[in-house]
Amino acid sequence: MVARINGVSRRAAQRTAISAVGSLKIKLLLFICFIFTVILLLSRTPSFFGWDQRNLPPLDRTSRKGYTLLINTWKRYDLLKQSISHYTSCPRLDSIHIVWSEPNPPSEPLLKFLNHVLKSNPKSGRKIELKFDINEEDSLNNRFKEIKNPITDAVFSIDDDIIFPCSSVEFAFSVWESAPDTMVGFVPRIHLIDQSNENKDRYVYGGWWPVWWTGTYSMILSKASFFHRKYLRLYTDEMPASLKEYVKRNRNCEDIAMSFLVANVTGAPPIWAKGKIYEIGSTGISSLGGHSNKRTECINRFVSEFGRMPLVPTNVKAVDSRGTWFW
Ligand SMILES: *[C@@H]1O[C@H](CO)[C@@H](O)[C@H](O)[C@H]1NC(C)=O
Repeated sequence: MVARINGVSRRAAQRTAISAVGSLKIKLLLFICFIFTVILLLSRTPSFFGWDQRNLPPLDRTSRKGYTLLINTWKRYDLLKQSISHYTSCPRLDSIHIVWSEPNPPSEPLLKFLNHVLKSNPKSGRKIELKFDINEEDSLNNRFKEIKNPITDAVFSIDDDIIFPCSSVEFAFSVWESAPDTMVGFVPRIHLIDQSNENKDRYVYGGWWPVWWTGTYSMILSKASFFHRKYLRLYTDEMPASLKEYVKRNRNCEDIAMSFLVANVTGAPPIWAKGKIYEIGSTGISSLGGHSNKRTECINRFVSEFGRMPLVPTNVKAVDSRGTWFW
């Protein structure tokens, strides 16, 4: 009887001991989680560890040149207004160049609106230059015409239906300043070798999914990229006329052509910069059917025009190191 009572109480004591160890483990785990969270939160502020932005060498950007916004638009005045209003608030924008390819010149109310936006620009009182490039004929090659009297080397080429926050633009611009011969932008694409073809010299255009899956790209689309203004002259003067004619006739692939041109000069891949993208327009040509087949045709056509495949694949992606925790 006594032994049994002893047995029971010993087991009960063991159980208490085990649950005490169990709750200790949970508490320890919670404690580690808590400490980790605190470190994570603290580390988001640069003053953690006493490393204040004030102790860093100044990123003096005022003395250097900014960039020119090169925007392609076609009869979407509300999108144009929205874009221009947004980008004039970005700190290093020096000049805006609107590629206009409509039969009618910009209307009086539109000009008035844009001038008002430039005047009411709250940043620094710097003057932003605004120019229209009026074209008689409607051709996609218009967007790469040379800029007359340019005031910056950097060109930020965009479509009117996507918007990037100033922080993303600033970051991509700083990447471009490190590599001014290269295209730097937010929308990567890839050329793939056509596996269904035995002689392996046919290529297939790869959109977002292959890029995402393989982490590899070889083009940066000019609807959102920085490049040196010298490439505008090269596109206009040195690009084979037959290639430009092809772009004009098919109303497509001017961006692939630009990627070929830059890669042919540099022999190097472009740079994909991390950035936020907001689409403000509803449909572009990329959402129409058959788009990918057309783009594949363009690539193969351009390879035969260039006599080789100039595009170089890469896996490099530029990210702002201030926003990354693990490195
Ligand atoms: C490609 O580069 C080569 C060598 O630099 C040059 O001779 C050729 O004209 C370029 N091709 C095009 C289409 O620009």
